[in-house]
Amino acid sequence: MSHPAVELDGIWKRFPGVIANAGANLTVRPGTVHAVLGENGAGKTTLMNCLAGVYLPDEGAVRIDGNEMKFSSPADALAAGVGMVHQEFRLVPTFTVAENVVLGSAPRLISRTEINKSVAELAERFGFSAEPDRPIWQLSMGERQRVEILKALWRDARVLILDEPTAVLTPQEAEDLGRVLRQMVSEGRSVIFISHKLDEVTSFCDEATILRGGATVAASVDIHDVDSADLAELMVGESEKSTEANAERTTGMGDVVLSVDHVSVIDSRGLKAVDDVSIDVRAGEIVGVAGVAGNGQRQLTDAIAGLESCLSGTITLLGDDLTTAPPRARFGAGLAYVPEDRLGVGLAPKLPITENAVMRDYRQMSRGPILLWERAKEFSARLVEAFEVKVGRVEDRLASLSGGNLQRLLLGRELSSSPKVVVASQPTRGLDVHGVAAIQRLLIEQRDQGVGVLMVSEDLDELLVLSDRIVVMSEGRVAGVFDPREATRAEIGAAMAGVS
Ligand SMILES: Nc1ncnc2c1ncn2[C@@H]1O[C@H](COP(=O)(O)OP(=O)(O)OP(=O)(O)O)[C@@H](O)[C@H]1O
Ligand SMILES: [Mg+2]
Repeated sequence: MSHPAVELDGIWKRFPGVIANAGANLTVRPGTVHAVLGENGAGKTTLMNCLAGVYLPDEGAVRIDGNEMKFSSPADALAAGVGMVHQEFRLVPTFTVAENVVLGSAPRLISRTEINKSVAELAERFGFSAEPDRPIWQLSMGERQRVEILKALWRDARVLILDEPTAVLTPQEAEDLGRVLRQMVSEGRSVIFISHKLDEVTSFCDEATILRGGATVAASVDIHDVDSADLAELMVGESEKSTEANAERTTGMGDVVLSVDHVSVIDSRGLKAVDDVSIDVRAGEIVGVAGVAGNGQRQLTDAIAGLESCLSGTITLLGDDLTTAPPRARFGAGLAYVPEDRLGVGLAPKLPITENAVMRDYRQMSRGPILLWERAKEFSARLVEAFEVKVGRVEDRLASLSGGNLQRLLLGRELSSSPKVVVASQPTRGLDVHGVAAIQRLLIEQRDQGVGVLMVSEDLDELLVLSDRIVVMSEGRVAGVFDPREATRAEIGAAMAGVS
């Protein structure tokens, strides 16, 4: 009998104040896509980091094709055929696709033409296209991810680990990725696939291993024997009821609290990313913004927060024209903002969790430039508890939080500032089932307290459940406004695709 491609045996990994992996096991057969599932903070990323040479486990064995390994760096692991695509990409933005793919690998080819050609051929073999000469900064998230995958394939990885690869992808891109993964395993490679989207897991994985609290609670479950509900139950230990928001509205709508009036925004390439958009949000309603990523949603929300300037049009908050006001003035006037890029503008990864938690209310927590530590610590501790953020110690760097917990902290911070208007981009992206339900409940609570919510999401189901109105954006314009109680998915989908 052949050896498993990967065998993780009793892996322990401790960090100060937290045990990330507590004797976790994982066995991956060659030629399969294996899902690793678990709630936010269950230890998935840490376990994969132990396999990919980022961490040396405190205890336990890592075996590749039956041979025990002690990787002391990611390069070590890659040399043994294990490659990992991380939750955040690690590409050089100013280099081209081909340069990024070959960067750091042993030189095999001499001329740029040769390198470009063979990178394009490699991509084609796996059924996706790549333009080797384009610089990374010009690419969408989905395209960048393909470069990361090519990077691993270029080094002939036999085991490819993808940590939440579809979190940044559109539904179409996610489907394409599924096909690429099937192609890879048909050649005898193995793929380890981490995702919170259980319908993806059931559609293109073969087996699943489920972690809870750092330990394996179900190993190598055959996907054909389970459905999404079974998997969710294994992850949380109980079944989660889905949110039913529209049925139970407790209050009516009030005055317009946020008004976007004929706003246009130019992006970094000089193109009109937002083109004459008008949206009103009333107190006590949730307005959903639907659309395929990259159709101006990010520039629109950034403009509302004052992080992008408007070429024309006005932005009014609670009746005051704040079109040219700095972000701080807008936050002071009652705006809460959860940006799409959490680490770009929302949070500072190198600062402690405490500092990140109080960043918004710094003035109340400080005397002059000096942070009042006790007050700040107390505030962070309350936030962490109320929003169920799983942390080791609040003194730790923000970067020590798991992806989903980072998000809870940001949302918690923004929502606990008693806002009048909440603008949230993809607020449930990367969260486990429990987290998604919790965040949706929070947004409904805000709505019922009379807050006006503008929520951007690529998840149409989520928008249909939560929104009082759905605005579809396509190519920077409003392509349609729908009542979620009456509109069909097909109508909204057609507007998203720009079909009128
Ligand atoms: N470098 C670190 N220092 C301190 N604690 C850490 C570190 N890395 C992870 N942890 C902690 O270990 C636990 C597991 O984190 P991990 O990132 O593995 O979770 P995850 O399952 O990937 O979650 P998510 O779905 O949210 O990405 C968390 O409580 C996290 O805060
Ligand atoms: Mg993770």
